[in-house]
Amino acid sequence: MSLYDAKIIGTGKHVPSRVLTNFDLEQMLDTSDEWITTRTGMKERRIASENEAASDLAYEASLRAIKAAGIRARDIDLIVVGTISPDYPFPSTACLLQKKLDVPDCIAFDLSAGCTGFIYAASVAQQFVSTGKSKVALVVGVEILTKITNWEDRNTAVLFGDGAGAVIMTRTESSDISKIIDFDLSADGTYSDLLIQPAGGSRMPATVETVQNNKHVVEMDGNKVYKLAVKSMTQSCELLLKRNNLKINAIDWLIPHQANLRIIEAIGKRLAIDPEKVIVTIEKYGNTSSSTIPIALDDSIRSNRIRKGDLVILVSFGAGLTSGGILFRY
Ligand code: ACO
Repeated sequence: MSLYDAKIIGTGKHVPSRVLTNFDLEQMLDTSDEWITTRTGMKERRIASENEAASDLAYEASLRAIKAAGIRARDIDLIVVGTISPDYPFPSTACLLQKKLDVPDCIAFDLSAGCTGFIYAASVAQQFVSTGKSKVALVVGVEILTKITNWEDRNTAVLFGDGAGAVIMTRTESSDISKIIDFDLSADGTYSDLLIQPAGGSRMPATVETVQNNKHVVEMDGNKVYKLAVKSMTQSCELLLKRNNLKINAIDWLIPHQANLRIIEAIGKRLAIDPEKVIVTIEKYGNTSSSTIPIALDDSIRSNRIRKGDLVILVSFGAGLTSGGILFRY
């Protein structure tokens, strides 16, 4: 039962300071700036230091979101973190973040939906807010995929970067135009083997062999994922438009998951959206998985591209395979 509308009142991001460019990658792998740029649109990405873990990036991003929202950390009553590269399998990164932020007793949990992690997490938080269970929710997408990357595999090593994005979500007055209007979540586990970190769980616990055979890193069938990504993200946007009687021209901004510029352009073409309305940050950060969308959202709000009252679609896909989108008025 929906009692309240929910809205985003503050955003924040944090990326590590170390920059890894395509030219740096040329020194490490059989690859080139030309290949990476034309095939993916990426120019550089940020890499976490040895000492940085997911909760450290999440903490910095959250502090900025809290400041932008004008709330106190102790007001937060729900923390949902979308991540597939948590500090530990357990306890959750959300609980570690709660401790760092010094938030008193609250609901805190992680959610695993690959690169769709932030969309899933924000949709879950919206449900908590709309039923009155949460008044002030902190939603984070954070990833340090470079620590589970096979640096000898040029098919995946060039793609990923690290970072965190956070939003504060609260209930809103019915007269307020800013609100989360709708979301669409979906999953198809028949494709679970296309994007996987095989070892480290109960299926293949860590052993000397799993380490020697490089089984603790991301494995991906890039071509298959590519096609499914275009299809699922387009479908999600179309569903949100149709269900809310909107034509694509009504949308002010589309923020798609930043996995590959060609995927982003293909979705834009299928939806027939003005390319000027599609937000792209891939050249700066690469694919930061569940954090690409909150990072792009924060960049766009702070640079005054997204303004109060704008109609925005966020859309993503990722390991699972999962996909989903959120339609909201900022
Ligand atoms: N540098 C140079 N050559 C390369 C590189 C590289 N970094 N990587 C692959 N190649 C080569 C391949 O070996 C292949 O060579 P061959 O023809 O001699 O066999 C050639 O380039 C073409 O390879 P393709 O895989 O066909 O290249 P494609 O155009 O499909 O691009 C890419 C590969 C970028 C991975 C693309 O398929 C893609 O973006 N897929 C989607 C990935 C994605 O979105 N993943 C989401 C993960 S997020 C998550 O949930 C964790």
